[in-house]
Amino acid sequence: MLAGSIFILSLAGLPVYGQSSASSASAASSTTSSSSVSTTSGVSASSGTTSVSVTGSGTTSAVGISGSGTTTSNVTKTEATALTFTLAVTNPTAVPLASITANETSLATIPLPSTATPATSIVAANYPPMDKVPPTDSSEVQAWIAEVQATPTVAGGCPANLQAAQDTSRCWWYCTGCVRDTDVQECPDKGTWGLTYDDGPSYYTPNLLTYLSANDLHATFFTVGSRCLQFPATLQEEFMAGHQVAVHTWSHPYLTTLSNEEIIAELGWTKKIMKDVTGVTPNMFRPPYGDIDDRVRNISIAMGLTPVMWTRMSATATFDTDDFDVHGGLASSYGVLNNWENIIANASKIDTGFIVLEHDLFEESVQLATGYILPSAMQQNFTIQPVVQCLNKPMTDAYIETNNNATNPPAASGAVTLSSGAPGSISTSPSKKNSGVSLKISGTSSALALSGVFAIIALFL
Ligand SMILES: *[C@@H]1O[C@H](CO)[C@@H](O)[C@H](O)[C@H]1NC(C)=O
Ligand SMILES: *[C@@H]1O[C@H](CO)[C@@H](O)[C@H](O)[C@H]1NC(C)=O
Ligand SMILES: *[C@@H]1O[C@H](CO)[C@@H](O)[C@H](O)[C@H]1NC(C)=O
Ligand SMILES: *[C@@H]1O[C@H](CO)[C@@H](O)[C@H](O)[C@H]1NC(C)=O
Ligand SMILES: *[C@@H]1O[C@H](CO)[C@@H](O)[C@H](O)[C@H]1NC(C)=O
Ligand SMILES: *[C@@H]1O[C@H](CO)[C@@H](O)[C@H](O)[C@H]1NC(C)=O
Ligand SMILES: [Zn+2]
Repeated sequence: MLAGSIFILSLAGLPVYGQSSASSASAASSTTSSSSVSTTSGVSASSGTTSVSVTGSGTTSAVGISGSGTTTSNVTKTEATALTFTLAVTNPTAVPLASITANETSLATIPLPSTATPATSIVAANYPPMDKVPPTDSSEVQAWIAEVQATPTVAGGCPANLQAAQDTSRCWWYCTGCVRDTDVQECPDKGTWGLTYDDGPSYYTPNLLTYLSANDLHATFFTVGSRCLQFPATLQEEFMAGHQVAVHTWSHPYLTTLSNEEIIAELGWTKKIMKDVTGVTPNMFRPPYGDIDDRVRNISIAMGLTPVMWTRMSATATFDTDDFDVHGGLASSYGVLNNWENIIANASKIDTGFIVLEHDLFEESVQLATGYILPSAMQQNFTIQPVVQCLNKPMTDAYIETNNNATNPPAASGAVTLSSGAPGSISTSPSKKNSGVSLKISGTSSALALSGVFAIIALFL
């Protein structure tokens, strides 16, 4: 049972995300840099035994755990201690809500239902260190940078740049009136829930996959490249089971704080390992914390990745269950379900479908999803689908290689509209739907308790 050697790593092997993570990660990695992780997972596929090997030195060990980081945030959160509503239904085998806490015991993990051979042998030494912004001087990153260097235009405006002006993939507003409307923030059809889970794969992703499978549900997994390196077989199972897999960066940084080159490294490496494991390259991406601006958006689109956010009611209210914060003790299981109830109430008021922020990194979030949120949602008859399908597109359109470029052109050219005409004319197209959106990250924080140390405070989205 190959998986065993992966799963015996303690939960503390998961990363710290948050404002103080740099210091705690570096502290931890300095103590683990000489360790070597060699994990072999051979698995029985129907056609025989295949193996997934993950080898490397010093890069797959726990990063950012046992951090000696100090808590510096002044944010306080109030934890709910009871539900304020009655759930329609729960899973009979649900873990009791009172037990889904930051202090809960780490339960045994379960094996994946199936695995197969990765498209490429996954060797940790062939990737950057996990959970750190990758260096930008590698040949891979340099090549990805070259991919997105748009040819500059020359002085003289549209007449001097006729070819560029006619290049719809450039979407040059000044000459064509082209606008972009590329962000996905909801599903078009009312009653439809674009189900997403971020930050995995993790030790408890198999529990979620098993529940989804048993209930014939499919989701979009926005996976972290470092977690794909740590759990390649789980990423592969997500793909094989018919879920959509999509990009959530290599080390989970606030992307707007990074240089162009670093953003490219974050997205490029994640695309690469996902392709190496599954054989296909995702074309959707969720920015960690929802931290995206036009610079990040432009780079992601140039790299073939459409940004997928989650539904927003106002500048301060988004469809965030806050499930991520139960593990760190900053939210309670009751609070998460109360948030869910508010989300559902709001979802019934909007005339589109919706997308909710949830995570599969920690066992508490998975327990809440499988024990309560999903049973409740099914009882309420939502149409639950991966994001690509809630957009009324086939699953094949979720990947660059299998995307139907004729009917589902890549984002860079897909949102192009041409004005009636003259160079410099003002577009009459509506402004893009996310203009003016303010990010939710300022001020709020969350904590992760890792190895018993409350180390990090930062709102996790
Ligand atoms: C916490 O509050 C103190 C006193 O108001 C302030 O000096 C400090 O900068 C605050 N720390 C953070 C992380 O906001
Ligand atoms: C993003 O791309 C648009 C369209 O090409 C361009 O107008 C805008 O200046 C770019 N923004 C940034 C920050 O690169
Ligand atoms: C975890 O357990 C400790 C010791 O029993 C307790 O002080 C702390 O409040 C608990 N934390 C949470 C988030 O329940
Ligand atoms: C739901 O909508 C109400 C009213 O607009 C708002 O106050 C609340 O913050 C929203 N909650 C969520 C989770 O969207
Ligand atoms: C869901 O659908 C079932 C079967 O059609 C129906 O009996 C039930 O009342 C519906 N529930 C809700 C909340 O609409
Ligand atoms: C769509 O374009 C991509 C990128 O050029 C290509 O790899 C892929 O094969 C194309 N899809 C189809 C169905 O031809
Ligand atoms: Zn995330």
